Amino acid sequence: MKILIAYYSHSANTKKLAEIIAKVVKSELKNVTTDFFYTEPEKPYSSNYNKVLDEAKRDIKNNHKPKLKNSIDSIDDYDVIFIGSPNWWNTIASPVSSFINSFDFSNKIIMPFCTHGGGGAGTIRADIEKLTKSKQIGKILSVYGNTSSINNSENEIKKWIKDIKINVK
Ligand SMILES: Cc1cc2nc3c(=O)[nH]c(=O)nc-3n(C[C@H](O)[C@H](O)[C@H](O)COP(=O)(O)O)c2cc1C
Repeated sequence: MKILIAYYSHSANTKKLAEIIAKVVKSELKNVTTDFFYTEPEKPYSSNYNKVLDEAKRDIKNNHKPKLKNSIDSIDDYDVIFIGSPNWWNTIASPVSSFINSFDFSNKIIMPFCTHGGGGAGTIRADIEKLTKSKQIGKILSVYGNTSSINNSENEIKKWIKDIKINVK
C-alpha cells in the first residue's frame, strides 16, 4: 500500500502529528510505504500570530488558493491520501485547498486529520469531503495542538487508521 501524507503546518503542530501518523501507520500496517508532501506556500504567512490571523481570514474569505513552492507530478500511485491541516477559522488552511485543487481525488481514499487550539475540527472534514469529492473518506483525527496531546495521540491514531482497512480492498 502506498500512502501520501500531505499537510500544511504553520507552527509545526500538524507537522509533528503527520510524523507520528507515519510512524504508527508503518508499525500497524504491513507492506506500507509513506511519502510526505508539505503544502508550503511560495509566499509564507507571517510568523506574527496576530498578522497570520488576518492573512488567513483574508485568504479564506476570498477563497484564495496560494501558489505552492513545490509540486508533485501525480497522485496516481497512492492508494490512500492523508490530508492534514491546522484548524484555521474552523476550516482548512488555504495551502491545503491549493493542494486539493491540483489533483482529482474523487476515487481516492482520504484520511483527514487536523490540530486545533481548542475549537476541535470545525468543518474541516466536510470541507475536505466537498473539495476532494471523495466517497471514501475516513473519520477525522482531531488533536489539540500542544506537544503532550500530539505525543500522546498514538493510541487514537491506531484506532483511527482502522478506517483504512474497511475501505482498502
Ligand atoms: C490563522 C489561525 C486561525 C486559527 N483558528 C482557529 C480556530 O478557529 N479554532 C481553533 O481551535 N484553533 C484555531 N487556531 C489554532 C490552530 O489551529 C492550532 O494552534 C494548530 O495546532 C496550529 O497547527 P500548526 O502548528 O500545524 O500550524 C488558529 C490558528 C491560526 C494561526
